[in-house]
Amino acid sequence: MILAGGSGTRLHPLTRITNKHLLPIYDRPMISYAIEALVLAGITDVMVVTGGTHAGEFLRLLGNGHEHGIGRLSYSYQERPGGIAEALGLAERFVAEEPVLVMLGDNIVERTFRPTVERFDVQGLGARIVLTAEEDPLHLRHLGVPEFDDEGRIVRIVEKPEDPPSHYAVTGIYCYDPDVFRVIATLEPSGRGELEITDVNNYYVDQQTMAYDVLDGFWGDAGESIDAYYAVNDFVRENGANKG
Ligand code: G1P
Repeated sequence: MILAGGSGTRLHPLTRITNKHLLPIYDRPMISYAIEALVLAGITDVMVVTGGTHAGEFLRLLGNGHEHGIGRLSYSYQERPGGIAEALGLAERFVAEEPVLVMLGDNIVERTFRPTVERFDVQGLGARIVLTAEEDPLHLRHLGVPEFDDEGRIVRIVEKPEDPPSHYAVTGIYCYDPDVFRVIATLEPSGRGELEITDVNNYYVDQQTMAYDVLDGFWGDAGESIDAYYAVNDFVRENGANKG
């Protein structure tokens, strides 16, 4: 699943006139990179969840997905920006009783996360998330940050911490077993009025069925701020993205 809804308030006023995930990253609309990343990771059955205005432009850009290497492309529509976990909930019937990988459509990676998909296939149950090393505590304050025990297991994830408990960030790439939909049904909205993906992840942490990998190479959240958007653009223009 690729999540491409939200109101994109952090990129206003650009996102008053289009959906954030259609803004350019170097020479392509942002969402093209997430599509390419999934295909590279071996995932060809894809649902795009969008919302707000301009939802029709995704169809214009992606069509039936075949040109992009997608076997089956489905679309869903989020009526209001209710958070990542709520958007994932919309895919319950699409996913049925299969494992699902969720990628936020504003996340850009330099290198493929295919190893994570392969390991989750073997893992079968629970969840698996992708972390990235991040030294800057100011940046970590805008992200989900894991806290580890002495054996390197995640003991909890803190969303946008004042005082980050480690030098790793949770990226917007998550693998879940089909139980995830039962977990989402129990969530309460957070302070920002959204169903938080971090609450889903902490459920799996508490169950001790959460695994993780640390991503190789660059990771960027192009929707985090206008500066992050340009940092991602500069990186991709110079180095490319989605390398094998
Ligand atoms: C979301 C998640 C956060 C994660 C980030 C990655 O943040 O809540 O844990 O680190 O995506 O892009 P948001 O973009 O909703 O602020």
